[in-house]
Amino acid sequence: MAPDARQRLTILLRSSAIQRRVRQMAARITRDFRGQHVHLIGVLNGASIFLSDLIRQIPLEVSLDFMAVSSYGLSDRSSGEVRVTKDLDTSIEGLNVILVEDILDTGFTINYLQRLLLQRHPRALRVAVLLDKAGGRVQPVKVHYVGFRIPNRFVVGYGLDCAGRYRNLKDVCVLSLPEDAAPRGARRRGRSSALRAR
Ligand code: IMP
Ligand code: MG
Repeated sequence: MAPDARQRLTILLRSSAIQRRVRQMAARITRDFRGQHVHLIGVLNGASIFLSDLIRQIPLEVSLDFMAVSSYGLSDRSSGEVRVTKDLDTSIEGLNVILVEDILDTGFTINYLQRLLLQRHPRALRVAVLLDKAGGRVQPVKVHYVGFRIPNRFVVGYGLDCAGRYRNLKDVCVLSLPEDAAPRGARRRGRSSALRAR
């Protein structure tokens, strides 16, 4: 990757700490659903790395599906207008579903997805997020498995991007963007007024 010299990355969570925490989260899930089948739903694209590490640490019968969503942000905030751009491939009726998301910020995305999935009558619906920016919350949401509570800064790496970049970093890093160096759509807290894929 050829980083823009004006974008500064500062490590917030090292790969080793992330891996340790993902193992702990997987152990909790395994205990909570002992002897049962769990169906993980990853929110593309950001959660793909977290999900792929998490699923391999859960020694239960596990199945997997994905959704993709976009949302319209107003200035630097999600507007709450979430749109599904890729729906599930299979029914979740009667299943123990765990929605897996990379980061919880305003809460609009997870709130929307929780309501949508509950209409499909899963047996249980839980949410696992790697990162929780509690300071960014606009919409209250209940999450069951949280990796790390982090400050209200824009972060990249371990699946999280800025305008499509940095998903492949092993660590989670704070991205400092001088206003004039930020690509369109990544200014301030990474929001744009355009439809933004997650
Ligand atoms: P929200 O909770 O609806 O505001 O949205 C959460 C989504 O916003 C996540 O799935 C990410 O795609 C994106 N997001 C929020 N904060 C960050 C960040 O710091 N870095 C990268 N993406 C973020
Ligand atoms: Mg995401």
